[in-house]
Amino acid sequence: MTADKIKELVAQMTLEEKASMCSGGDFWHTEAVERLGIPASMVSDGPHGLRKQNEQGDHLGVNDSIKAVCFPAGCGTAASFNRELLTKMGETLGNECQAEGVSVILGPAVNIKRSPLCGRNFEYYSEDPLVASEMAGALIHGVQSRNVGTSIKHFLANNQETRRMSSDSRVDERTLHEIYLAAFEGAVKKEKPWTVMCSYNKINGTYAAQNHLYLTETLRNQWGFDGYVMSDWGAVNNRVEDLKAGLDLEMPGSLGVNDKLIVGAVLSGELDEGVVDETVEHILNIVFRYEENRDKNAVFDKDKDHEMARKVAEETIVLLKNDGVLPLSDQQKTAFIGKYAKSPRYQGGGSSHINSHKITSALEAAEGLNVTYAQGFDDKEDKTDDKLLAEAVETAKNADVAVIFAGLPDKFESEGFDRKHLAMPDCQNELIEKVAAVQPNTIVVLHNGSPVEMPWIDKVKGVVEAYLGGQAVGGAVCDILFGKVNPSAKLPETFPLRLEDNPSYLSYIGEGDVVEYREGIFVGYRYYDKKKMDVLFPFGYGLSYTTFEYSDLTVDKEQLKDTDTLKVSVNVTNTGSMAGKEVVQLYVADKESTVIRPVKELRDFAKVELAPGETKTVTFVLDKKAFAYYSVRIHDWHVESGEFDIMIGKSSRDIVLTKTVTVESTVKLPFVYTTDTTMGDVKRDPRAWAIVQDVLKGGFFGEKPEEPESSAASEAITDEMNTAMEEYLPLRGPISFTGKVTMADIQALVDKLNALEE
Ligand code: BGC
Repeated sequence: MTADKIKELVAQMTLEEKASMCSGGDFWHTEAVERLGIPASMVSDGPHGLRKQNEQGDHLGVNDSIKAVCFPAGCGTAASFNRELLTKMGETLGNECQAEGVSVILGPAVNIKRSPLCGRNFEYYSEDPLVASEMAGALIHGVQSRNVGTSIKHFLANNQETRRMSSDSRVDERTLHEIYLAAFEGAVKKEKPWTVMCSYNKINGTYAAQNHLYLTETLRNQWGFDGYVMSDWGAVNNRVEDLKAGLDLEMPGSLGVNDKLIVGAVLSGELDEGVVDETVEHILNIVFRYEENRDKNAVFDKDKDHEMARKVAEETIVLLKNDGVLPLSDQQKTAFIGKYAKSPRYQGGGSSHINSHKITSALEAAEGLNVTYAQGFDDKEDKTDDKLLAEAVETAKNADVAVIFAGLPDKFESEGFDRKHLAMPDCQNELIEKVAAVQPNTIVVLHNGSPVEMPWIDKVKGVVEAYLGGQAVGGAVCDILFGKVNPSAKLPETFPLRLEDNPSYLSYIGEGDVVEYREGIFVGYRYYDKKKMDVLFPFGYGLSYTTFEYSDLTVDKEQLKDTDTLKVSVNVTNTGSMAGKEVVQLYVADKESTVIRPVKELRDFAKVELAPGETKTVTFVLDKKAFAYYSVRIHDWHVESGEFDIMIGKSSRDIVLTKTVTVESTVKLPFVYTTDTTMGDVKRDPRAWAIVQDVLKGGFFGEKPEEPESSAASEAITDEMNTAMEEYLPLRGPISFTGKVTMADIQALVDKLNALEE
């Protein structure tokens, strides 16, 4: 429906009808206005499968939803670093929504993994905003290509579950832009999600739902968002203020209570009816976009989509350690140990929980192979069961190789609460230790949504991080274990050695409702790199069964302006004997900067598939953003002129090729002189320095004696100290030391400096 037609429709609606459109008709539908032919439009969770509730609705997965297909959760899909794959997964989800009459799927969820403790990290993509926004963009592209909407969530700075409905994320402007907004920005600008879901929390004192700065100024005005903003379920606190701030749809509806407030506010003159009209236009635009593009032929073929889920899972499994033990051969007598071999933990709890139509376990997938099984532990009690343990050790002893399926039980990580530590259950750690003691060829397969400590890492020969791989994970794990598929995923997050190493450790999860993001921009590898810290596994890390070599890193120019683009090419060769995929990572490092910056930042990545011996050229195009930081002086991205390293890496800790370019800024940051401006800063502009010297005649510290009175005096004041004293002396300093100038003189000097032409 055209914008004009929608306006006409809104003009025919009563104030009451318009107010009712601003909130859900029930838990999952927008309101219908039958007399005007406006249908109710259904939304459903998300993000990695369809959680469509037919009867009783709830937002925490308590009541049943229809049978559907559970794809790997965000923690895993991000590890694929494969945009095309996420787009295909999105197409499948979009098709399922068409078949089920769902207009918007509630995802992707892109919140940054500030701490490995966040209970919902399994749904989220990465500690890095580029990975989060690129993977989200790819998924959105796929879903929306089927004329179904997405709801990128949870906007904004919602990085913990503790007190999620009342906590106040205190984040500085630069950090918000470089890390937390950035996770949304690229996806919103490039892929235009139909809807955005605002989070429960406050941002610097204002609820996300009430935040005009982010909902309207940033999202709509700067990023060009043209859909509707919906609240997270129950995130509305002040309906009228929220509406003014840019929160369009309240979900679920407050059974009419808040609609009445809207009507009252319009009638009393507190709220401009035009705001209500615009809100309804935003909502109707999406309602009709879906209605007019219904695919009546769409079929939800669950078995077919299960196969798709398996394909996706194959690329989400990260090979973390392989001391020559993998891949396994069909001939080896293999012991599968651990409960998750038979009933995998493949998804997390809460609103994303899918009622899977079937589940493939690794044990089932290994049917016909020489595989034995022992349960090893029970995740109900989280206590070692001596009988199960003894059985497992015996089974491992009698095999050529033992594969232990371990990880985190549901009660360790879920929506609604945060983890307290990074440890796996003791009973599982003990199982791994005991099995490894009798079986030299021990491999651990992990099912978890967020990093765990691995106290046994040196005692096992292989570690496979399967994340929460969706309902088809068992097949995918077997394909990786037995070498039918070459692992190609990389960690989208750092696995620290200890929780205490994490940059947010000192301030996570805040004091009461106050959560200060004290680590600032130093999230994930940005911190570990700067601190030169050892980690268990770095960001971007993951092994393959083949080997890749990189060569011929070239740039199309060595000098450029920040308005130019830079083309970077590199050759990648598969030097092993198995076909495989490699994630080529491009980082940029500002070699010298007057602002505090990370050592390097991921600025692009590409996944390439290579046959043995094959070489492909990977090309990246970088623009200003690749070199920029967010300047709070101009409230915009800014490049500081100078040299930058373009680094190609196999991981954030394995940079294989580097090339240096010089970038010249076309934007001069405004400089305002004050009486506190230091002499050192004045010196940067020779014209200003000349004026200061002329007015103050050099001697900023008063007359110097010809000869120092004693050697003690000259020892106390070195040349270095003298230089530093002058460098950091504010313009007003000479008032105290020379007795020759007054504050009025210095103020006149400051005015003169500020009058200098740019
Ligand atoms: C979650 C959202 C979810 C919504 C609806 C909320 O509790 O935070 O991610 O989409 O419920 O189920």
